[in-house]
Amino acid sequence: MLQTGDMIEAIKRRASVRSYIDRPVEQATKNRINDFLGDHNQGPFGHRVRFSLIDLSDMEQAESRQLGTYGFIKGARLYIAGVVKDLPGAMEDFGYCLEQVIVRVTDLGLGTCWLGGTFKRASFARKLSVTEQEVIPAISPVGYASDRRTVRERIMRRFISADQRKPWTTLFFQGDMNKPLAKDEAGDYVTALECVRLAPSATNYQPWRIVKEDNVNVFHFLLKRKPGYGKLLRAADLQLIDMGIAMSHFELAARQTGLDGDWKRSHFDPDGNGAEYLISWIER
Ligand SMILES: Cc1cc2nc3c(=O)[nH]c(=O)nc-3n(C[C@H](O)[C@H](O)[C@H](O)COP(=O)(O)O)c2cc1C
Repeated sequence: MLQTGDMIEAIKRRASVRSYIDRPVEQATKNRINDFLGDHNQGPFGHRVRFSLIDLSDMEQAESRQLGTYGFIKGARLYIAGVVKDLPGAMEDFGYCLEQVIVRVTDLGLGTCWLGGTFKRASFARKLSVTEQEVIPAISPVGYASDRRTVRERIMRRFISADQRKPWTTLFFQGDMNKPLAKDEAGDYVTALECVRLAPSATNYQPWRIVKEDNVNVFHFLLKRKPGYGKLLRAADLQLIDMGIAMSHFELAARQTGLDGDWKRSHFDPDGNGAEYLISWIER
């Protein structure tokens, strides 16, 4: 495993970057990113992600022009893309693995932006020889951030309240989903949960809900879907990707604060609260 820096600090600092300056990412840094991609390509549900680092500068103009983002990303030449087999648990694993990489790339001082919708999926799929059983759930540009956001990005961020997160009492619970868990009741896991709260999610919807069991450090991860959202994009279940991202933040922060545990499929009944149980963190 590679030596890594302050992951909690990187999680706190990360924000989507959609405008990049015209400075190529150095070869040594690209090598580091490739190492991260090789090190973090298997998730807690057991699926493997086939990652690629795509440099548009290495391509003929005609080819690179096809790998577009509909104008949502400005100035990026480097992209991380990943392919998974379209199986249960694969979206969560994809979110988990790519976020492990994105936090480390943030730690290197580079900008990123999860793109699950606004990229030319079919062109990237051709480039990565995606088979019928596989999908590209999302991609991310990588590069040096411009210090100015475009007007379009500022409007978009305002529209989805990208700088805000739901309060603790909406996201986290104790015992069952009717009893909110306040920040001062979270004990050793206060940082891990706060890092989940800061996670990026598609349209900033934040579908993660976590229930801590009474008296033990067992945390059940649940998905509370935005109604009708799944039908919006058939190619990838973005809210399951969000769940994997949340798991990544939780585990990175837990481990950095000296807490050890395992991901296990266990049982939890959300008791009619409109949430889906996915997985649990069980402290060792
Ligand atoms: C799974 C996923 C898919 C996303 N897809 C897009 C996208 O297609 N286009 C885009 O501009 N932003 C996309 N985003 C970025 C979110 O809008 C962003 O993370 C959220 O608004 C919070 O802002 P922040 O990342 O700056 O904290 C996506 C994020 C996630 C996690």
